[in-house]
Amino acid sequence: MILGRDRERSTLLGLVAAARDGLGGSVIVRGALGIGKTALLDELLTATEATTLYACGHEWEADLPYAALGDLLHPVLDHIDRVPAPQARALRNALGVEASAAIDPVAVEVATATLLRTLAADGCVLVVADDLQWIDTASREVLMYVARRASQMRVAFVGAARDEEMTPALAALPTLEVGPLAAKAAEMLLDVRSSGKLAASVMETLVGLAGGNPLALQQLCDGLSAQQLAGQTPIVAPINVSTEAVLAFRRRIDELPETARQALLIAAAEGRGRVDRVVAALARCDLDAAVFEPAERQGLISIVGDTVQFHHPLVRSVAYQTATPTARRAAHATLADVETDPDRRAWHLSAAVVPPDSAACAALVDLGTRALARGADITAALALARAAELADETDGRGALYAKAARAANRGGDVPMATRLLELARPLIADRPVERSDLVLLDADLRMRAGDFEVASRGLTQAAEEVADVDRRRARTLLLFAAKSHVYKMEGAVDVLELSSLAMTQTMAGDPRATATALAAADEGIASRRGHLHTLGIAWPLIWLEQYDAARDFVTWAVHVQREGGYHSFLPQSLLPEAELDFRTGHWERALAGASEAAQLYEETGQTVDGAIAASTLARFEAARGHGSACLEHARRALDGDRASGLLAATAFAEAGVGHLELARQRFDQAIEHLAKAAAIAGGGGVCEPGLLQLHPDLVESLVRAGREPEARAVAGELTEQVSGADRPELLATALRCHSLLSPEPEALDALAEALTHLDRELCLGTRLRGAGMVDDGRRHLTLALDLFASLGARLWIDLTRAELRAIGAPLIAPDRLTRREEQVARLVAGGASNRDVADSLYVNPKTVEYHLVNVYRKLGVRTRTELALVWRDAPESPPRRLDQLPT
Ligand SMILES: Nc1ncnc2c1ncn2[C@@H]1O[C@H](COP(=O)(O)OP(=O)(O)OP(=O)(O)O)[C@@H](O)[C@H]1O
Ligand SMILES: [Mg+2]
Repeated sequence: MILGRDRERSTLLGLVAAARDGLGGSVIVRGALGIGKTALLDELLTATEATTLYACGHEWEADLPYAALGDLLHPVLDHIDRVPAPQARALRNALGVEASAAIDPVAVEVATATLLRTLAADGCVLVVADDLQWIDTASREVLMYVARRASQMRVAFVGAARDEEMTPALAALPTLEVGPLAAKAAEMLLDVRSSGKLAASVMETLVGLAGGNPLALQQLCDGLSAQQLAGQTPIVAPINVSTEAVLAFRRRIDELPETARQALLIAAAEGRGRVDRVVAALARCDLDAAVFEPAERQGLISIVGDTVQFHHPLVRSVAYQTATPTARRAAHATLADVETDPDRRAWHLSAAVVPPDSAACAALVDLGTRALARGADITAALALARAAELADETDGRGALYAKAARAANRGGDVPMATRLLELARPLIADRPVERSDLVLLDADLRMRAGDFEVASRGLTQAAEEVADVDRRRARTLLLFAAKSHVYKMEGAVDVLELSSLAMTQTMAGDPRATATALAAADEGIASRRGHLHTLGIAWPLIWLEQYDAARDFVTWAVHVQREGGYHSFLPQSLLPEAELDFRTGHWERALAGASEAAQLYEETGQTVDGAIAASTLARFEAARGHGSACLEHARRALDGDRASGLLAATAFAEAGVGHLELARQRFDQAIEHLAKAAAIAGGGGVCEPGLLQLHPDLVESLVRAGREPEARAVAGELTEQVSGADRPELLATALRCHSLLSPEPEALDALAEALTHLDRELCLGTRLRGAGMVDDGRRHLTLALDLFASLGARLWIDLTRAELRAIGAPLIAPDRLTRREEQVARLVAGGASNRDVADSLYVNPKTVEYHLVNVYRKLGVRTRTELALVWRDAPESPPRRLDQLPT
C-alpha cells in the first residue's frame, strides 16, 4: 500500500490516460535512494489497464546487451511478426531469438518503436523501466529512443533513476521529482510499521530525522528498542539513508541462519531472480526453497510467482557484497552447473574462477565467437574482454583485447573500444602486424571524432613499419590515411573511386564533374553499393543542379538503407534528400528530413556530419525567417567544427546566418557572415558556387550597403565561373546579380528568361518596379508572394508585401513541371503503370510515385484519368492545370 503521493500518482495516471487518448508521453521519476520511486511505479503497474511492459535494471549483473529489452518484450514476442520483416529480423537478432546479419543498434531502436506503435494501435501501451541506471547500455539506448518518441505513439513511458544517476539523456526528458513524503503520510507509515506502538513524540523525532525518506523511516523504526519506541530513551544523530540502510540490511542478513544467507547469495548472484535456476542451484547444495523462510519473514526477499524479488536493490547488493569472495565464486560455480543458457553459463563460470583460468577463458572465447557470428558485437566485446582477463599467457591476451576492441567499435560503443584498445596496446607493442591492426582501429575511432590529423599520422607511420613484411597491409593503411572521410573501406572500389572523384571535381569546379557524378550515381545503383557512398554521389549532383538524377539516386538510397537496416548510413542520404527538397521548394519536407538526419547523426555519434546537418538546418531556418532557430543551429554547427578542427559546417552556417541578416535588412552584418563563408570556401579551394549559393546574397548586401565596386567584383567572379556551363539556375543567379547592379531593360529581359523560382521573383519584381515596368513587376512580385506563402518564409513574405503595397493586387501562380515530372506524367497519361514507367525510365517505382505526387499537385488532378484529360488537351506543350481547362 502506498501512502500520500497524490500529486505524483495523478501525474502518472494522467500520463497513461493521455496516451490512451492518443497523446503519448514520457516521464523519468527521479529522487533520492529509498524515496519511493519503485513504490510509485509498482502502484502504477497495478492501477492501469493498459498493455504493460516492464523491465528493471540489476546492479552487479554483467552488462549483457539487450537483456533488459528481452525482459521488456518477452510478453509480446509473438507480435514481432507484425512489424516489417527487416525490422523484425533486427529485433529477433538483438534478442538472440534468431541469428542473421550484424546487429544494427539503430535498427533495433526503430524496430522496437514500430512494435510498440503497432501494439498501441489497439489501445495504449505503458512501458515501465525501473532502475534505469543499471539497465544494460544497449537496452537503455532503445528505451531512450522510445521515450523521446512516445508522444508520436500512444505510448506512456515511465522510467525511474536515482538523482545521482541522472545522465544528460535522462535529464533531457520530462521528469517527475519525488521529494520527501508529507508529514501525515510519514506518520502513517511509522504507525503501520510499528503496529501502533510508537509514542507521538518519538514519531515527530523520527519524521524529522528521516527527512521524509520512507526507506529511512522504515530503517529507523525497525532499529528502535522497546524503550525508544515508547519514548523513554532519546534518539539522536541524523542519518545518511544509504549507509544507514546498508547497515540495517546488513544487520538483518547477519542475523539469518547460515543456510538462509547462502540461499540469499545464490539468488543475488543469479541476477534475474529466476526461481527455477535458484532452486536448482540450491538443490546442488542439498537445500530447497524453504531456506528462504527466515529472510522472507524479515522482509528481505519474497517469492512471487516464478521470480525471487529482493525487497530493495540494496538488499541484493548487501547480500552479494558481504559474502566472502570464496563464497561468491562457489555460488557462481553452482549456478554455472544448472544454467541452461550457454551465454549466462559462461559468465557464471568466469565469475567462479580465480584468474588465470584457461577453461573459463575458453568458454568466454567460445561465447564471443558465437556472438560475433550472429553479429552481436557488444556481447562479443564483453565476452572477449573478460576472456582476456582470464587468459594466462600475455600473448593471447593482447590479441583478445584487440579483438574485443574491434567488436566494440563495430557495435558502436566508442568508449569501450577505446578502453580495450589501450589495454591491448602495451601487450602487442613489439608485433608490427598486429599493432597495425590496432592503428587502423585507432584511426577509425579518431576519424569519427573528427581527429583526422593524428589518425592519418599514425596510419602512415604504421604503414612504414609493416611495409617490408606485408605490402598489402601497408597499402591499406595508406589508403585509409588518404580517405580521411570514408567510414568503411568495404564496397566496390569503383563506386568509391567515382564518388570521391565526383566530390573532388565538383569542389574544384572541374567541367567533367557533372559527367563523373552522373556515372557515380549509375554505378552506385547498378552495383548496389551506392548507399555506402551517398555523400560523394548525392551532394555533387545537387550542387551541380542535376536534380532529377539526384532525386532518383537519393530516393533509391534512402529506400535501400531503410529496408536493409543501414541506419547509421541513413542520415547520409536523408540530408541530401532534404537539401533537394529545399532547393526544389518543398520546405516543410526539407526541414523534417534534415531534422531526422541531425537526430540520427547525434544518436549514432557521428559528430562531424552532425555539424553539417546543423548547418543545413541553420540555412533552412534562415530561409524561413526563423531567426532564433537559425542561430541556434548555426551555433551547434560551429561548436561541432571547433571540436573537429574542420570548417565545412561553419561555412554553410555562416552562409545561412548571412541570408538571415539580409532578410532582416542588416546589410553590414550580412556581409560579414557571407564574407566569412566565402573566405572559408576560397581557402579550401572550393570553386563551385552551387555549393554555398552565397553570391546573390553577398552582391545584394553589398549593393544595399552602398558598396557597389565590391558587389561588381563578386558578380564578375560568378560570371567567370558560370561561363560555358550548362547550368540554368546558376546562370539565373549570375544574371540576378548583374540586374542588381544595372537596371537596363536587356538585363531584366535576360533575367526574366532565366528565372525559375523563389526569391529571384522578388528580386525581379523589385527591379522591374524600379525600372518603371509596373505590370511586369506586379506579376513577379505576386509570384514571389505566392511561393513564399506556400513555403512559410515569414521575413520574405513581409518584404514582398512591402514591395507589392507599392504596386497592386495578386494573381495566381502556375506551377511548372520539371523535365522528369513531365516525362512521368506523359507516360502515365498514356496509360502506363508506375512499374512500366519505372522500367522505361530506369528508375525505382518509388521514385515514380514521388514524381507523380508532385505532378498531381501541380496540375490539380487526383486520378490518372484526370491526368490523361489534362494531357489530351495539350499533347506536346506542357499542360495547364485541370481547373484552367475550357469546360
Ligand atoms: N508512499 C509510500 N508509502 C508507503 N511506503 C512507501 C512509500 N514510498 C516508499 N515506500 C517504501 O519505502 C521503501 C523504499 O521505497 P522504494 O524502494 O520505492 O524507493 P526507491 O526510490 O525506488 O529507491 P531506490 O533509489 O533505491 O530504487 C520501500 O519499502 C517502499 O515500499
Ligand atoms: Mg527503486
